[in-house]
Amino acid sequence: MVKICCIGAGYVGGPTMAVIALKCPLIEVVVVDISVSRITAWNSEQLPIYEPGLDEVVKQCRGKNLFFSFDVERHVSEADIIFVSVNTPTKTQGLGAGKAADLTYWESAARMIADVSKSDKIVVEKSTVPVKTAEAIEKILTHNSKGIKFQILSNPEFLAEGTAIEDLFSPDRVLIGGRETPDGQKAIKALKAVYAHWVPEERIICTNLWSAELSKLAANAFLAQRISSVNAMSALCEATGADVSQVAHAVGKDTRIGAKFLNASVGFGGSCFQKDILNLVYICECNGLPEVANYWKQVIKVNDYQKNRFVNRIVSSMFNTVSGKKIAVLGFAFKKDTGDTRETPAIDVCKGLIDDKAKLSIYDPQVTEDQIQRDLTLNKFDWDHPAHLQPLSPASKKDITVVWNAYEATKDAHGICILTEWDEFKNLDFQKIYNNMQKPAFLFDGRNVVNPQKLRDIGFIVYSIGKPLDPWIKDLPAVA
Ligand code: NAD
Ligand code: UDX
Repeated sequence: MVKICCIGAGYVGGPTMAVIALKCPLIEVVVVDISVSRITAWNSEQLPIYEPGLDEVVKQCRGKNLFFSFDVERHVSEADIIFVSVNTPTKTQGLGAGKAADLTYWESAARMIADVSKSDKIVVEKSTVPVKTAEAIEKILTHNSKGIKFQILSNPEFLAEGTAIEDLFSPDRVLIGGRETPDGQKAIKALKAVYAHWVPEERIICTNLWSAELSKLAANAFLAQRISSVNAMSALCEATGADVSQVAHAVGKDTRIGAKFLNASVGFGGSCFQKDILNLVYICECNGLPEVANYWKQVIKVNDYQKNRFVNRIVSSMFNTVSGKKIAVLGFAFKKDTGDTRETPAIDVCKGLIDDKAKLSIYDPQVTEDQIQRDLTLNKFDWDHPAHLQPLSPASKKDITVVWNAYEATKDAHGICILTEWDEFKNLDFQKIYNNMQKPAFLFDGRNVVNPQKLRDIGFIVYSIGKPLDPWIKDLPAVA
């Protein structure tokens, strides 16, 4: 029986290994983590992450061929294939701070593998890493190997949160990069055989190590670039009276461009896009390619611009101040169908409103009060460094309330911001909400989930990203 061990029981390690276990009943899969609370949650009824379909997959295999353990060393030493799926956040200090990937967690995992291994192993990079990381990992492993053979493969993960199980069941592609040596090719074949249990052969792409590592950064940069492109257009639409949904539809009909990933929004969030583009920018700079670095940097700049623009619209529309006004925030997660708040645009929007002294009432169906308070207190990039996760003191809590119902959040509010496209926000009773708000009642839709005309008919003053402006807002001085 092949034994797989995955180091890192997070958003990638957990779901990915659960699907491998489900699809390969004859492979034993153990997911290990240094976080005891995470492992305890994976072994409980309340999994540590919310992901549609995940509970069912875990329930089918847990205790049969899927295990979660904090006995990291034992399971690593027993495994034939080790996936490393630890966090690779942006460095907060030292050389490359604010851009380069922090490989501390990766390096410590690699050193531990070298220390405890007693047999040959295939080590798979599942985390997103800078191109050429495999070379460094190889050095760590071989310098400490006591004659044990290690083959490094790059097998980046392309799942998106909220659709992780669907993406893993039916991936557009699985990418495996390895050394172009007989041993490297043998290792690729072994990993390919795992995926071949359910992924059609033509969807398994095999490349050299550096192409696989770089493809992951490139894919995320291309995806984020589409969002910044459509968001840049949304600003021009507002200035000209064009409608960004109509423009995106017309543009996306060109089969060379395609319709997906062209939804204008308050900005992209999530743990990957910003981190991976900053990492790409840093790699370009280190390779003496400033023009290429600046090109990708612009994707982040437009994203920051979009979030600022949204806050400015709110403040300027509401008579240039939100001081002391109750603003309801509907949605805090970075997208629907996840409880993940890493780099969510809601953090920047809420901080912007708090700076203008607004009183926020926040509702998200999957995000806890503690998480929201923490997110609004942490510094940029600190979220992915567990060492920074100290308990919150009551004094550090911001002037916000977190409630468990959209009607409660919007009661007596002067304005509403929709920051996550949860399906339930489409079907709210907006007449009831309007009746219970201060007047004039404002609604700022950062995800284009409401029908602006229907809400204007009720009496709301509505701002929707990239849509023709409400006469109220249009007559105000232009927003910078
Ligand atoms: P995560 O923070 O949810 O999980 C990482 C886990 O690794 C944590 O539970 C942490 O405790 C554990 N860990 C860290 N160091 C360890 C060590 N030395 N030994 C054992 N456990 C250790 O992160 P994630 O979202 O799962 O992302 C993991 C990697 O996958 C990152 O490189 C990320 O860029 C990449 N990725 C993420 C996504 C996504 O949607 N989240 C998608 C594709 C790729
Ligand atoms: C992304 C990549 O899609 C995935 O392939 C990679 O493995 C990890 O990073 P994820 O961040 O989980 O996945 O979600 P994604 O669906 O890509 O959304 C990222 C952000 O972009 C979200 O904030 C989302 O709301 C936003 N978005 C997405 C838009 O604003 N408009 C769109 O058209 C699509």
